[in-house]
Amino acid sequence: MTAQIIDGIALSKHLRSEVATRAQALITKGVTPGLAVVLVGDNPASQVYVRNKVKACEDSGLYSVLEKYEVSMTEADLLARVEALNHDPAIHGILVQLPLPAHIDAQKVIEAISPAKDVDGFHIASAGALMTGMPGFWPCTPYGCMKMLESIGYNLKGKHAVVIGRSNIVGKPMALMLLQKDATVTVCHSHTQDLKAITLQADVIVAAVGKRNVLTADMVKPGAVVLDVGMNRNEEGKLCGDVDFEGVKQVASHITPVPGGVGPMTITMLLVNTLEAAERASN
Ligand code: GUN
Repeated sequence: MTAQIIDGIALSKHLRSEVATRAQALITKGVTPGLAVVLVGDNPASQVYVRNKVKACEDSGLYSVLEKYEVSMTEADLLARVEALNHDPAIHGILVQLPLPAHIDAQKVIEAISPAKDVDGFHIASAGALMTGMPGFWPCTPYGCMKMLESIGYNLKGKHAVVIGRSNIVGKPMALMLLQKDATVTVCHSHTQDLKAITLQADVIVAAVGKRNVLTADMVKPGAVVLDVGMNRNEEGKLCGDVDFEGVKQVASHITPVPGGVGPMTITMLLVNTLEAAERASN
């Protein structure tokens, strides 16, 4: 069997056109959905990410501002900026790009963002809402993974989903989202004994470790669905995921590629969350 590829670029295009349509409807009512992206310092990867986020907003008809600050910005000044954005009626979503310089307590900054504008879904109120099934913003990467499963009409009820990785941004929220859809969820991590024995039982595998070849063909049950959240570089400097794509695609029923899989979905879900924030604020 050769797996069907879940195309994150095509799905993003479809979802972004829906965002654009909904944004236009709001604009007609006098509300332009707005995202503030805050970058402190000159981390080159972060500069690329924030530029892509702002461009994605523009392409979908959302308003966005990029606020760039020197690496020397104090924590107090950043907290004051966040507070001002919390009260800015033109801004519905606030994203403070991570990582922040070491002298700034990132968690403190995230907790300063109003949960109503927390489109990253990183605030503890957002995490608590996800855990209890209350309305709130879901972190964009695992949310994008859920949309990818939805796009293939996958019914998670009673299925065994295995998440490899337990980060606050991907692994843990991913597990909660899968649980909410009635999957039986196992979370594996660096201390897991016999990972292969567990992944071989999985109907769905989400690899979110940040290490190449964490998942190889011999670890996958025939017909399983494999989502690859990894973003790594191989020896030639080429972007690759956590999954041995060439091997695993011979065994899985569906698989996401890297690049062109989960990656584009992350920004798409940021747009969805920003739009949602604006819709909630206007109601
Ligand atoms: N740095 C890398 N990814 C992200 C993200 O999704 N949100 C924020 N705020 N910072 C990041």
